Amino acid sequence: METKLLVLLYLIFHGLRIVDGVRPTGPGNFNVMSFGARGDGLRDDSKAFQETWKAACNSTGSVKLVIPKGTYFLSPVKFRGPCANVQSITVQLQGTLKATTDLSKYRSGGYWVEFGFVDHLTVTGGGTLDGQGSLAWPHNKCPVKKDCKLLPTSLAFLATNHSKMKDITSVNSKFFHIALLSNANFKASGIKIVAPAESPNTDGIHLERNTAVTISNSKIGTGDDCISVGQGNHDITIAGIKCGPGHGISVGSLGKYEDEEDVTGLVVKDCTLTGTDNGVRIKTWENSPKSTKASNLTFENIEMDNVRNPIIIDQTYCPFAKCQSAAPSRVKISDITFKNIRGTSTSPVAVTLKCSKGIPCENVSLQDVRLEHNGPNGTTATCVNVKAEYSGMQNPPPCKGPDSEN
Ligand SMILES: *[C@@H]1O[C@H](CO)[C@@H](O)[C@H](O)[C@H]1NC(C)=O
Ligand SMILES: *[C@@H]1O[C@H](CO)[C@@H](O)[C@H](O)[C@H]1NC(C)=O
Ligand SMILES: *[C@@H]1O[C@H](CO)[C@@H](O)[C@H](O)[C@H]1NC(C)=O
Ligand SMILES: *[C@@H]1O[C@H](CO)[C@@H](O)[C@H](O)[C@H]1NC(C)=O
Ligand SMILES: *[C@@H]1O[C@H](CO)[C@@H](O)[C@H](O)[C@H]1NC(C)=O
Repeated sequence: METKLLVLLYLIFHGLRIVDGVRPTGPGNFNVMSFGARGDGLRDDSKAFQETWKAACNSTGSVKLVIPKGTYFLSPVKFRGPCANVQSITVQLQGTLKATTDLSKYRSGGYWVEFGFVDHLTVTGGGTLDGQGSLAWPHNKCPVKKDCKLLPTSLAFLATNHSKMKDITSVNSKFFHIALLSNANFKASGIKIVAPAESPNTDGIHLERNTAVTISNSKIGTGDDCISVGQGNHDITIAGIKCGPGHGISVGSLGKYEDEEDVTGLVVKDCTLTGTDNGVRIKTWENSPKSTKASNLTFENIEMDNVRNPIIIDQTYCPFAKCQSAAPSRVKISDITFKNIRGTSTSPVAVTLKCSKGIPCENVSLQDVRLEHNGPNGTTATCVNVKAEYSGMQNPPPCKGPDSEN
């Protein structure tokens, strides 16, 4: 009798759960469970996800793609438009996506989950992307080798317009967590990014060739840059980011490839960096194949908590033990403001402005910089090929000349 009751209860519970999973199929509502997803974390659900996207993208009006609670094991998936008759598409990710660890399934430098060529897309819902990176990290030779095989980025947005990403978590990406490439009018907020400090190239959010992007109110702790603003970006706002561990918030690296474009118009404000290698950084390679510029960049109201290099411009960027240094960087850095930057440095050199010997930095301004060293000697600044302008409080004291340490 009791066993029968338990079986009955089990069936009712399971039946309800399955029905519940399938239920939201109102007009414009596309649930991956209705397209054969299992959500058991074991069997590959990527085909079901592709079918769901196809149906949603091929429908009309405002549509919703629902991924309910559960764990979905996924090979690489591409959610691509154009979706001709769709006004807006919301991906409601409530569950956890788990990446296959079989590296042969990914294209070199490719993506695990890709959204592309679609407008008015919103990815939200409080869910998680788990890149399962720990098995892949030992295969990453990029930190020591220039021509290395690139592992996949967890989540990419390609050529979208008016899109949003909100309340999404990414853990343990194999390579970058999130890449924003060639988007316009993109907004990200409430993003949480987690990976160990020693995980290689796990940049939190990497941007290239975007216009009008705002990234706000997010928490990023990872093994490389929390946010890296690469080539070709314009009108970027980064605000309210808590970063650490990681390598800080960076512009660059720039000046490595032939096809790079300028970076213009960046505001980084109201951020806190805790225990990071760098605070705010601009990094460019030597031997640049093309001359480009990085200008109108403002770093404002930033708190440093035990950061190794709180303010740093490095135009001899070389992540390897040694780089060829045949010609100075051809990235022109100008119109840079560091304003109200305060807190603690774990190294005595709290401000490093190391500009290109070929093209010195121009119009670099420091206003109200207060950086203490947690040691007896106070902080110092190093300047190379730059004559910075100073106003307000200055600790470390200003550089005495364009090539000085004090
Ligand atoms: C899109 O929908 C139309 C009409 O319902 C159908 O003929 C077409 O095959 C669908 N295309 C795809 C890619 O599903
Ligand atoms: C984005 O959409 C706006 C219209 O809202 C349009 O003017 C602009 O050209 C689009 N940008 C891109 C890159 O598609
Ligand atoms: C500098 O960048 C900001 C932010 O993107 C932008 O609003 C401003 O117009 C730019 N100023 C110049 C002189 O280009
Ligand atoms: C630097 O500022 C001066 C004075 O405001 C201006 O004339 C000059 O064009 C600026 N240089 C660059 C490269 O922006
Ligand atoms: C502080 O400065 C003195 C004199 O230049 C030097 O001998 C000492 O090693 C410095 N201490 C630290 C912790 O850097």
